[in-house]
Amino acid sequence: MSFPKVNPTKTKAWEQLKAHFSETQSGKMQEYFTQDPSRATRFSIAWEDFYLDYSKNRITDTTQKLLLQLAEEVQLKEAITAQFSGAPINETENRAVGHTALRDFAKMRPEVKDTLQKVKAFSDSVIQGEWTGYSGKAIQTVVNIGIGGSDLGPTMVCEALQYYKNHLQVRFVSNVDGDHIAETLRDLDAETTLFIVVSKTFTTQETLTNANSAKEWFLRESSSHAIAKHFVAVSANLEAVSHFGISSNNIFPMWDWVGGRFSLWSAVGLSIACAVGYDQYENLLVGAHEMDLHFKNTEFGKNIPVTLGLLSVWYNNFYGAESECIVPYSQYLNKLVPYLQQGFMESNGKSVDRNGESIDYQTGTIVWGSVGTNAQHAFFQLIHQGTKLVPTDFIGFTKSLHGNKDHHNKLMANMVAQTEALLQGTYETHPENNFKAFVGNKPTNTLLIESLTPKSLGSLIAMYEHKLFVQGVVWNIFSYDQWGVELGKQLAKGTLAALEGNNASNLQNPSTQRLIDKLN
Ligand code: F6P
Repeated sequence: MSFPKVNPTKTKAWEQLKAHFSETQSGKMQEYFTQDPSRATRFSIAWEDFYLDYSKNRITDTTQKLLLQLAEEVQLKEAITAQFSGAPINETENRAVGHTALRDFAKMRPEVKDTLQKVKAFSDSVIQGEWTGYSGKAIQTVVNIGIGGSDLGPTMVCEALQYYKNHLQVRFVSNVDGDHIAETLRDLDAETTLFIVVSKTFTTQETLTNANSAKEWFLRESSSHAIAKHFVAVSANLEAVSHFGISSNNIFPMWDWVGGRFSLWSAVGLSIACAVGYDQYENLLVGAHEMDLHFKNTEFGKNIPVTLGLLSVWYNNFYGAESECIVPYSQYLNKLVPYLQQGFMESNGKSVDRNGESIDYQTGTIVWGSVGTNAQHAFFQLIHQGTKLVPTDFIGFTKSLHGNKDHHNKLMANMVAQTEALLQGTYETHPENNFKAFVGNKPTNTLLIESLTPKSLGSLIAMYEHKLFVQGVVWNIFSYDQWGVELGKQLAKGTLAALEGNNASNLQNPSTQRLIDKLN
C-alpha cells in the first residue's frame, strides 16, 4: 500500500482556506460565542473519560469544513490505513511504523507477546525481591541508562505514575555530562543496584559512555562474573550488547519497525514496569490502544487527534504561528513537554517533502510549555500580552489523586480562568490603559480527563502521537525518520578527536577551531 504524497498547498481546500483566512483573520472569538451559545457544545468531543473543548479557537463552521476537506484531499484516511497495515511508510529508512502494534493485544505478533512476557517475569521478580544481586540482596534501585527515546518516555511515565509506584527507586541517566552519572550513583550501593542499558542501536555515544562508567563503578565493588545479576539491556543490536558484556539471557529485544521516540510501548518500558508493576504498565498500553481505535475508526469531525492536528495546521500555516504551548495542570506531568518535544520536533522538523522536493511552506511547530500553575508565573505574560500568537493546550484532571479538594479546586480554577482570560481579555473594561489591557482572542484547547491513571496516560500519549502523524501527513513529510540528528553526531567525532589532541582535519571553521583551542 503506497503512502499518499500530496502537496497540501496544491489542494482546492488550501486555496479556499487562504481566502477564508483573509476574510476571518480579524474575527473575534468573543463575538462568535455571543452569536452562538451552542458553540461550546458543538466544538467539543467527549470520548471515554476525555473531554476536549476546542471551542476557544479562531474557527467557524466553514473553517472546520475546509480543514476536513483538506484532510480528505491529502488522503489522511489512506495514510492512517497504511500506517496501521504495517506498510513501510517510513520510506527513507524502508521501515514499517509499528508502535501501535505493540499495544494491540488481540493481534499481537508472537515476538512482541514473548517480549512482554519477559518484561513481566523480570519486573515481577525484581519487585518481589526474587532477582537478587551478587551478594544475595534484593534490588533496591533500578538505573535506566539511555537517551532520547530510550530515556524521555520511561522517565516521563515513571514521574507521571509516581502515585502508583512500588518500593523500588528508579533513576535515569541520559546526559554524557559525567556529573549526571556521578550524582545518580553517588549514594547507591552496587549490591542492590540494577542497570538497564537502553539503546536501540547500541551505538549511541552518550549511552555507551554512561554504561561503561556504570560498569567501571560496579566493578570497583564486585567482579565481572556478577555483571549478569546487575546489567540488562534493551536493544535491537544483540551483537553490540554481548560485546559490551551483557549476557544474551539479559537482553530484551526491540525491532527496527519501532522508532525510538515511540518506543516506550516496547521493552524500553522495562523501567516503567519495574516502577509501577507489570499490570499497571499493561494498563498504559491498553489506554494507548483505545486511543488508536478512536483515531482509526472515528469520523474525522469527532476524532480528537485529527481535530488537534488540523487546528495546528490552521495556526501554523495560515496564522503563521510558530509555536504551540502545552500546559498540563498536574505536577505529575512535569516531564510531558520534554517528551513531546522529541515527538513533535524530531518527527516534523523537516523541509523536504515526501516527493523529495524542498518545501516552501511551514512545517514542524515548536513545542514548549511547562506545568500549571507554575507556568502562569513564568511565561504566561507573553501568551496574554505578547506580539506572538501561541495556541495553547490546557490539560486538567477532574479528580486529584491524593484527593485534596482545596488544592485541586485552586488548581482547576486557575486552569479554567486562564482559558477564559485568554479568550475574553479585558480590552473593553480598560480602554483607557493600554498597559493593563488584554485583547483576548487567544486560542486554546482544553482537555479534561477524569483522573491520571496508567490507562488515561496511555491514551493521552497516543493522542499526541497521532496528532503529530496528522500534521506530518498534511505537510507531506516523512514523520518517522530523523536524519537531521546525524551531522552533529558525525562532527562530534572530529571535535572529540581534536579535544583529545588528535587530528582535527574535519574542523573547517575558524570559530569552531578557536573554541576547541580554548577548551584544550
Ligand atoms: O539522536 C536521536 C536519536 O537517534 C533518537 O531518535 C533516539 O531516540 C535516540 O537517538 C537514542 O537512540 P538509541 O536508542 O539508538 O540509543
